[in-house]
Amino acid sequence: MEVAKTIESVRSLVKAARREAKKIGLVPTMGALHIGHISLIETAVKECDFVVVSIFVNPTQFGPTEDFEKYPRPLEADLEICKKAGIDIVFAPATEQMYPRENFTSVNVEKLTEQLCGRSRPGHFRGVATICAKLFNIVQPDIAYFGQKDSQQAIVIKKMVADLNMPLRIAICPTVREPDGLAVSSRNQYLTKEQKKEATYIYKSLQKAQEMIDAGITDCETIIRQMYSILNQAPSIKIEYVSVVDAETVQNIDQIAGKVLVAVAARIGLARLIDNILVDASKQ
Ligand code: PAJ
Repeated sequence: MEVAKTIESVRSLVKAARREAKKIGLVPTMGALHIGHISLIETAVKECDFVVVSIFVNPTQFGPTEDFEKYPRPLEADLEICKKAGIDIVFAPATEQMYPRENFTSVNVEKLTEQLCGRSRPGHFRGVATICAKLFNIVQPDIAYFGQKDSQQAIVIKKMVADLNMPLRIAICPTVREPDGLAVSSRNQYLTKEQKKEATYIYKSLQKAQEMIDAGITDCETIIRQMYSILNQAPSIKIEYVSVVDAETVQNIDQIAGKVLVAVAARIGLARLIDNILVDASKQ
């Protein structure tokens, strides 16, 4: 496994693999790798001949009061995980490598970023789309792997790739959970044991929504109200949003129909946690 710190070196390594007609996979991450990331990495290794994992805590997707400074950066442990997984290159650039000068260009995916996290984290998806566009241009993968856990991010990146005719496919992998249902996240390390227990109410509320939709309930307000009552059982949960949106347009809906995304964002202690379920109501 090679560890590339510069754009030049990752480009030349990928170029050599492409010359051998290898299928190139990219797994973009911010490091602090856990079993969620590993599931993406394993899928990429299975489906591609040559896999690049990028590890870069991207400053432009953090708001001024967010956790950029204290975001975990256990690079050595991350490299060990990548090595074990059979990764070909870890691309771990310094900030100056990715942003050597002031950027005047960014990618803004409209509409799809108005609701959910886009509403509470202004500029976040612009930062995400821009860094992903840069990574796609640097690595030029055939397939890039993202997690369903960050559902709005996945939708935004897919739309960017389609709208800008970027020559790659976006693969979305299922959310990996702890046995108690909590979605695995690098930010779970900010939680105390007690807070981690309370955090399981997020998935419990989503399971309730799934149950209600399965039972034929279509009124979103009724579903959201039930979800609130479950979340309110955990005193340390500060709800940021509980939303039911159309999974394609990411706009709020009143009635369940077609593919819908039920999504929650909440703060517990020092962590901001998100989770979601994707439901195809046409199949009910
Ligand atoms: P990061 O939070 O490190 O996540 C990297 C990838 O892992 C994302 O596609 C995310 O959806 C996926 N992931 C995280 N937890 C997961 C889980 N429990 N199950 C399945 N997949 C999971 O998302 C980012 O980094 C950044 O925004 C990035 C795309 C790298 C751009 O900076």
